[in-house]
Amino acid sequence: MSTLYELRGEVAVVKLNNPPVNGLSHALRTHVVSAIDAANADPKVKATVLIGSEQAFSGGADIREFNTPKAFAEPNLHTALGVVEASDKPVIAAISGACMGGGLELALACHYRVATEDAQIALPEVKLGILPGAGGTQRLPRVVGVETALNMIVSGEPVPAKKFEGSALFDQVVPGNLLEAALEFANRVADKRPLKKVRDIKIDYPNAEAFFQFARNTVGAMTKNYPAPKKCIDAVAAAVSKPFDEGIQLEAQYFQELVQSPESKALRHAFFGERAASKIADVPEGTKTRAIEKVGVIGAGLMGGGIAMNFLNAGIPVVLLEVKQEALDKGLAQIRKNYEGTLKKGKLTQEQLDTRMGLITPTLSYDSFQDVDLVIEAVFEDIGVKEKVFKQLDAVCKPGAILASNTSTLDMNKIAAFTKRPGDVVGLHFFSPANVMKLLEVVRGAKTEKDVLATVMGLAKKIKKTAVVSGVCDGFIGNRMLELYMRQTQFLVEEGATPWQVDRALEKWGMAMGPFRMIDMAGGDIGWAIRKRRYQEQPDLSYAKLPDVLCEMGRFGQKTGAGWYKYEAGRRDAIPDPIVERLIEDYRKEKGIKPRKISDDEIVQRCILALTNEGAKILEEGIAQRASDVDMVYLTGYGFPVFRGGPMFYADMLGSYNVVRLMTRFEKETGDKYWKPAPLLQKLADEGKSFSG
Ligand SMILES: NC(=O)c1ccc[n+]([C@@H]2O[C@H](COP(=O)([O-])OP(=O)(O)OC[C@H]3O[C@@H](n4cnc5c(N)ncnc54)[C@H](O)[C@@H]3O)[C@@H](O)[C@H]2O)c1
Repeated sequence: MSTLYELRGEVAVVKLNNPPVNGLSHALRTHVVSAIDAANADPKVKATVLIGSEQAFSGGADIREFNTPKAFAEPNLHTALGVVEASDKPVIAAISGACMGGGLELALACHYRVATEDAQIALPEVKLGILPGAGGTQRLPRVVGVETALNMIVSGEPVPAKKFEGSALFDQVVPGNLLEAALEFANRVADKRPLKKVRDIKIDYPNAEAFFQFARNTVGAMTKNYPAPKKCIDAVAAAVSKPFDEGIQLEAQYFQELVQSPESKALRHAFFGERAASKIADVPEGTKTRAIEKVGVIGAGLMGGGIAMNFLNAGIPVVLLEVKQEALDKGLAQIRKNYEGTLKKGKLTQEQLDTRMGLITPTLSYDSFQDVDLVIEAVFEDIGVKEKVFKQLDAVCKPGAILASNTSTLDMNKIAAFTKRPGDVVGLHFFSPANVMKLLEVVRGAKTEKDVLATVMGLAKKIKKTAVVSGVCDGFIGNRMLELYMRQTQFLVEEGATPWQVDRALEKWGMAMGPFRMIDMAGGDIGWAIRKRRYQEQPDLSYAKLPDVLCEMGRFGQKTGAGWYKYEAGRRDAIPDPIVERLIEDYRKEKGIKPRKISDDEIVQRCILALTNEGAKILEEGIAQRASDVDMVYLTGYGFPVFRGGPMFYADMLGSYNVVRLMTRFEKETGDKYWKPAPLLQKLADEGKSFSG
């Protein structure tokens, strides 16, 4: 037979070989089943060792087979586990690297387990809105105890094998030389009968009822929009209260329920969306990248400081430039203050803080940029200022250095044209706070080189961002869509809702922050400036003028102590303001608007579908590569609830036909021409299709 099945004395060594993580593909499951059959049929064999690679025993299901018939084709995971457990001869799992999900469930169906100390053990299914469906919820509590198992299943987080030394999960934990240790162990237990099966272990847990009640209360409060964690508790409770086979049946039933839940569908969409976003159609994998060993940041203000921190956290030195010493000192002090906050929370040591601060070279001179590999400017949002900056960069930076702008609204092609090397210019649009927010819009200019794109996409991973490529347009993907969402929120107030009703409805639906609280936090003046430009550029798109009335009164939000809400000194709680209520009433009277009662449903649908419609236009224009990219922008940069999957996925869940019907109704009722469905959306509805296909 092949090298995947070898005899070592009286022990059959069965190699799991499906790189990179030994995902339990149809081929791998077939291999396991036939290897066990072969071992049982061979009189020379007394025991079998299942072993993976150094990186992984098995990372679980093979994600490449997700949503294909192969995922559940026979031998499915249940069959494979059954064959292993029922083997006449002992099966020993030899575990190193990742042992997760179905991989751990496979190991638990073996009769013995030997692991290296640093093997990583996890049941991460909950992160995809499901639960371990191949016995994990029934077997893990039997070997590590109910509380530890529940923690692992509800959190999905990995635990090093060393932590389980002495538990029934591992018969032996070894520092290294896994195969030799497993062979020695196999020879020792080869003749022992009856065979040890995890299913036969009795769970003795006298306080079960009180414990599970407590778990339901805490987990319920922490994960209220997600059904999976609660089902995990029910499944583990069944492991305690029911015989093994009944527990397995319940687990299978819960698994089926969860797989069908919209929340799990949304989480899986986000999981694949994240992977898809890193791919650019015409930039093949393996495109040569440029080395980024030193980064320059211009402007140590709100964004520049946060941007610099990303690189410091990844151990990459940063040269930080400002125009005045005072601004430089202020920026550095803010970075230090941020790190000190993390230190106080115990998430950073003093040594790490010192190392990170030590990686910064503060400067007032462009000469310090001669050897940087990438520069990101975060100076004032003014094309004149950007022009000066890019001309200076063009003069001092070495050939091949990537020149990036953090602009939110300016034309990246114009900025690139300020240099003699537009191919090296790219937009890197971070979101505030830049050291926290996951999203990075990578703005691809008309001339941006492919290796520049490949480089920044790789770098984004290194600094733990979700990078999404956007073409050049006003506002790129995220802010361009936000504009239309905000526009609806204003109309809703004009027509009869209060700002707090709109905020409450959207927050209840799952948005991290209501739009009016968001404006007050970001500063109403920012949107005002953009709208003034829009009034000129898009005279046929109407806007409610209420927010302008507020801005004219100097009510910019938290920073002026009043905006849509009022604020008490030193506090951020948004308090509904009777003055604003009166202002709205007067405004309606003046405009002859008779207020009507608006339902929370209408609020949510008008706001979210405004995002969808603009997202569809962005797709048609090729600004975004795929619908899931648009969703990733909203999930990682705009507080869109992950369990809803994003504005495009939400439309898919409603169905494109229903979305178009709703939009047509809104157009009729409000007279707003924006509700004419984007041609792409109309086409999907006509053809009975969805964005996600
Ligand atoms: N604030 C946000 O939420 C946000 C989000 C994404 C992108 N942006 C973009 O980031 C950029 C910076 O915004 P910010 O909010 O950090 O502004 P900011 O005013 O907080 O900081 C700008 C900094 O740049 C410095 N500066 C100005 N001109 C300079 C020059 N010629 N050389 C060196 N330094 C100079 C200023 O001293 C100031 O410290 C803008 O392009 C903005 O559109 C902002």
